[in-house]
This record gives sequence, structure tokens and C-alpha cells, in this order.
Amino acid sequence: MGSNMYIDLYHVSLYVCVCAVGLTGTKYGCGGGGCGACTVMVSRYDPVEESIHHCAVTACLQPICSLYGAAVVTVEGIGSTRTKLHPVQERIAMAHGSQCGFCTPGMVMSMYTLLRNKPKPSMEDIREALAGNLCRCTGYRPIIDGFKTFSQRYVRCHMLPFTADLRNVLSLQYCNHLHTGGWTLKLKHLSF
Ligand code: FES
Ligand code: FES
Repeated sequence: MGSNMYIDLYHVSLYVCVCAVGLTGTKYGCGGGGCGACTVMVSRYDPVEESIHHCAVTACLQPICSLYGAAVVTVEGIGSTRTKLHPVQERIAMAHGSQCGFCTPGMVMSMYTLLRNKPKPSMEDIREALAGNLCRCTGYRPIIDGFKTFSQRYVRCHMLPFTADLRNVLSLQYCNHLHTGGWTLKLKHLSF
């Protein structure tokens, strides 16, 4: 005798669904919308504004039945070490913003969503976008250090001189006097 299984879609979360299809990059921390470890990006077409609006949501709280017609992007969808890291993933890694790594996918997706909505965010935008993401081990300084490189102010202050004429500003010198035996990037015309 067979048995019928009834699934109440109102109580099936997006997190359960992304795991069910093998996307395990999204993490599960608190299960109550408080830590941001499960953050993914949900995109919807707005027929009034005739544009796509991207929103960072906590997958542990989002009922799957609320996502009819929406597109969901998880951390696997933006890049990986096997294909190519997305700049958001790359910069948090370069700034040592990931220790145990549990919060990292959520941090990355919050920042990625912000950049999709606003490619040149202010520092205030970045802080606000990460307000719902908790990190229990790295601390926020290196995470912010990595992500602030996307901010309007940082790009204006630090990137333009490099792109203007890289070779006139920087040179590679062999660094023997420090007994490190390695190549070091130095500023020309300055003594160290
Ligand atoms: S698991 Fe903490 S917000 Fe979803
Ligand atoms: S790196 Fe461990 S929780 Fe953030």
C-alpha cells in the first residue's frame, strides 16, 4: 500500500532547495535571518520601472513559494577557483578577509548584490550592505579593506595613478639588502 507525501511549500525554504540541487556554497548559521551566512541574490523584473532589481535575501527565511518568476544566484553562480574568481571573491581573499570561511559566501553575495545595483558604491553603501552579515572570527577590518576597493572614493584615490602611467611610478627591484632574496615592488625615486 503506497502512502502520499504532502509537502507544505509555505514551509520549504530557499536554503533547503539550493542544497537539494547540490549548491552547498551557501551556508547555514542561525536559521533565523540573523547572521547572513545564507545570503543569496534574488532578481526580479520590475515592469513599472522596466528594469531588473537585485536583492540580497537570507535563504533560510525565504519561502520557495515566494519566488515565482524570480531568478536566484548563489555564490557558485558568480565564480570559483575552478573557473575564475569574481573580483568580489578575489578581493576578500587578497585582503585576508576569510578565516574559517563560514561567513564568506554570505559576505560575497551581499557585496555582489550591492555592486549589481550600484557599481560605484560609497563606503556608507558598503557598510550598510554588510550590516546583516556577521563574522565570528576574522573581524570586519580585513573584510572592509577588501571591499572598500570597490568604493567610489577608493577608485578615485588609488586606482587612477596606477592606470595613468604604471611604469613611471613603479619599478621592480631585486631586494638583497633585506636578505629576503625576493623581488620587491618599489616606488621609483624613493629610498627605503
Ligand atoms: S542562516 Fe543565519 S541568516 Fe540564514
Ligand atoms: S571567517 Fe569565520 S565567521 Fe567569518
